[in-house]
This record gives sequence, structure tokens and C-alpha cells, in this order.
Amino acid sequence: MTEDETRSLLAEHAASLFARGFSVGSAGNISTRLDDGGYLITPTNSSLGRLDPARISRLDAAFVHIGGDKPSKEVFMHRAVYTARADAGAVVHLHSTMATAVACLPEVNPDNPIPPLTPYFVMRVGRRMPIVPYYRPGDPAMEPAIHAAARDARAVLLANHGPVVSGRTLTDAVYAAEELEEAAKLFLLLRGAAPRLLTETQVEDLLRTYG
Ligand code: 13P
Repeated sequence: MTEDETRSLLAEHAASLFARGFSVGSAGNISTRLDDGGYLITPTNSSLGRLDPARISRLDAAFVHIGGDKPSKEVFMHRAVYTARADAGAVVHLHSTMATAVACLPEVNPDNPIPPLTPYFVMRVGRRMPIVPYYRPGDPAMEPAIHAAARDARAVLLANHGPVVSGRTLTDAVYAAEELEEAAKLFLLLRGAAPRLLTETQVEDLLRTYG
């Protein structure tokens, strides 16, 4: 895919997420790695609903801003994931309602708050999604915490803030963020019930087949 095609795809996914309420206002940011080792990332204070593909920020392989509008103030959040995960080709950060609600619950398991309820959650997000303690948005102190948590998790939840989700490709990361939001919704719907969970054998089978 050319850089221009990637810019268009990023704007398309962002607009779709915005249109369905996965982000509001100027919340959220999305990045993807390019063939030359550099990155595209959404500009700071931009609405995911109205990105101009040509103005999406361009970073070099060292995450230095080299083109487009001023990048998201959370470049370091994305860098934390790319440097932790060689398989990450894109990172999606949202303030999506259900995942953020789970990130506000003090009683959930901080190592893995959402159990394996559905196969697509396991296939897209994996078996573990830890919660990273609260940091102010834009606080670079969150980088080492996200880096450590992302080493063995494709997605992490920032406490009282929202999800950070990686994928091999931009589309994979967007799909994973969508599955995470649905799983969070199911988890909240089923709170207080005793739902049947996927068994360890079923989780293993999914990861072996699709992981
Ligand atoms: P930016 O507008 O700088 O990307 O920040 C948005 C955001 O989601 C903060 O968490």
C-alpha cells in the first residue's frame, strides 16, 4: 500500500469509528507504521470524524515529527506499544464508552478485567488485557508503564481513560478495538450474572487457529 493509500485508509477507519460513537469530540488517536519504518499519526486536537488525509502527521522511524500537522500529544503512548511489540503495525487509542467504563471499575482484576466471553474477543485481543494505572492524558510518565504492560498484551486499558489497542495492520487494530468495545459491553451487561465462559481448551484452540 502506498503512503497516500494508507493516509486515506486511516481517515476512513477514523471517520467510521467516529460515526458510530467510538470517539467523540477530539478524543482518540490512531497511528500506523509505514513501509520505510516511519509512522502516520492523527494530529493533536483533531476529530477522528473529519481528518484530512494529507494533513495527518508524519513521524520518522525515531518518532520525530517530519510532516503534516502537529502530532497527537500521545506519540509516546504509541511508541510504548511499537517498542514493546515487534508485531504491532498500528495502534488505536479510543475513549470508547464501554471499555472506559470497565477501566473505571475498582473491583475488576487489573491483570485481566474481561474474561473470555466470545471467540472474536479472544481472536482479536488475545487472552490478556491488563489495566495500566491512571496518568494524566499527555503525561509522558505513562510510557514505561504502557511499554511493560504491552509486552505480553495486544491491548491495555488505561485506568479511567480508555483502551490502547495494537494490531498487525491498521485494519486489524481497528477491528480489535471494536471487538474490545463489544466485549466490554457484554461484560457490563452480564455483571452480577454468572455467564458461561469459554474454557481454557476453547481459548487455546482459538489462539492456535487464529492467534
Ligand atoms: P490528542 O488530540 O493529542 O491526540 O489527544 C487526544 C486523546 O485521546 C488524549 O487521550
